[in-house]
Amino acid sequence: MRKPKASAKEPPLRIVRTVSDLRAVVQGWRGAGEGVALVPTMGALHEGHLTLVRRARERVRRVVVSLFVNPTQFAPSEDFTAYPRDEAGDAAKLAEAGVDLLFAPSVATMYPPGDATAVSVARLSAGLCGPWRPGHFQGVATVVTKLLAQCLPDVAAFGEKDYQQLQVIKRLARDLHLPVEILGVATVREPSGLALSSRNAYLSVDERKIAARVYQVIGGMAARLAKAPAEVAKASAAGRAALLAAGFATVEYLEVCDAKTLQPLTVVDRPARVLVAARLGKTRLIDNVPVVPAT
Ligand code: PAJ
Repeated sequence: MRKPKASAKEPPLRIVRTVSDLRAVVQGWRGAGEGVALVPTMGALHEGHLTLVRRARERVRRVVVSLFVNPTQFAPSEDFTAYPRDEAGDAAKLAEAGVDLLFAPSVATMYPPGDATAVSVARLSAGLCGPWRPGHFQGVATVVTKLLAQCLPDVAAFGEKDYQQLQVIKRLARDLHLPVEILGVATVREPSGLALSSRNAYLSVDERKIAARVYQVIGGMAARLAKAPAEVAKASAAGRAALLAAGFATVEYLEVCDAKTLQPLTVVDRPARVLVAARLGKTRLIDNVPVVPAT
């Protein structure tokens, strides 16, 4: 039998744009005793985002996805206006994935006139991407706090792809006593190893091949450090050289850090992560992997 087209069998995705409409739907579910998950996104959805939806769905009955390209997390020199936007395409993917509600607010809804409050997470925001993207983590922390307060989910899912962001969000949820479980989800990759990202749309065919080197390089570093935990400096220098040789224009950082505090390590003597940001043409790529100690 032919599989019916998703659009023929899936109920249409409900879309709301105001906080009061979002709350009304969520309250209805809560009244019926149903658990609620939130998956915040900036759209241009791919398998990475849809995997977060599936993981969230394993935990609770109802999944809300938010779609909001958040202006406050882009520095003035960054790609806010060029960021890929396709609400109709995204809504179709979410309907097929069985999402219950899409929350797609306007900038004025998220930042009402006179808005004067920001959330900033000290220390965790300071290193790695912090110096390269001034204001970025404050923008992320502020918008995520707003989304959690608007939706009041039981669970909110975020990808390990943005590992520093995940740690910042776990910290703010703890520090602000938000009654939500922050669920971290492993990075979804192409067969080449390239981490899926909305920004991969900026890559040319040739750049895509070079981009796959990132995962090979940091994966190689992690394997070496699992066996030789004191070789952080040597492995980092070799990794940086390999990326530049592969065609990256700049390696913004390539560091081995404590997996929780993100403090740089010189010896891997605790759970650690190799994290990288590098520029290829006009595209900035980030990635990270755990160091799994050899047993
Ligand atoms: P965005 O880049 O759209 O990503 C939304 C979520 O998808 C984030 O939690 C991100 O880590 C996750 N994600 C992206 N690519 C992934 C991959 N290859 N594998 C697994 N998860 C992946 O991150 C943001 O938006 C924003 O900063 C946001 C949290 C929505 C705040 O504006």
